[in-house]
Amino acid sequence: MKILNLYACLGGNRYKWDEVTDVEVTAVEWDEELARLYQERFPQDTVIVADAHQYLLDHYKEFDFIWSSPPCPSHSRARFWNTKAKRIYPDLKLYEEILFLSTHFLGKYVVENVIPYYEPLVPAQKRGRHLYWSNFKLPSTLSHRKIKMVEEAVSVSFDEIKKLSNYHDYDFNKYKGKQRRDKIARNLVDYEAGKTILETAIGVITKQNVKQTELF
Ligand SMILES: C[S@@+](CC[C@H](N)C(=O)[O-])C[C@H]1O[C@@H](n2cnc3c(N)ncnc32)[C@H](O)[C@@H]1O
Repeated sequence: MKILNLYACLGGNRYKWDEVTDVEVTAVEWDEELARLYQERFPQDTVIVADAHQYLLDHYKEFDFIWSSPPCPSHSRARFWNTKAKRIYPDLKLYEEILFLSTHFLGKYVVENVIPYYEPLVPAQKRGRHLYWSNFKLPSTLSHRKIKMVEEAVSVSFDEIKKLSNYHDYDFNKYKGKQRRDKIARNLVDYEAGKTILETAIGVITKQNVKQTELF
């Protein structure tokens, strides 16, 4: 299965995909340090340092399944409620990708983001603290794993990073780049949710293939 993993970070969503099926993953991340660490974590993947938004437009036809996790700060409720945070426009590239994938892409896709501070412009499937825009139905529970997170706008302690490192099975102290380490650690999707979503997509694709074979 050819998968495009956009805004790849450290591949929280991708971590358990090899347990689901044979995957050929292309990951796009523009932070060079994250891309380097992603490549170290998943040596078999193709890692591209580029703008994921543009890459989607240029390459979407090459894949069976696309996962996109655009940055969430401009949509997040925590940032909106934080009166000290600089005001910014919600980044509508999120909706550009959703509309583009839902109308042009023939495979299965998932766009993932936080629950925004406004009514989402396109209806989504809400699971836990996230919204998922997808062209297939997700199970009501994506993961049974639990973690108590400190509030998003507050910078987290060393212990909190340790807790997140255990949860994601990754040592975030390896990251020596320009972004805040605690922010990176909080960015990762729960790997069980990533696994459930890929399994669901494959289930849907298999059913569609059986139906088509029955027709002929
Ligand atoms: C929310 S995180 C993705 C988390 C990822 N799905 C996971 O589970 O590990 C978003 C990532 O996108 C990267 N990023 C932000 N804008 C980007 C862009 N235009 N192109 C590529 N990467 C970008 C950030 O550096 C960050 O690592």
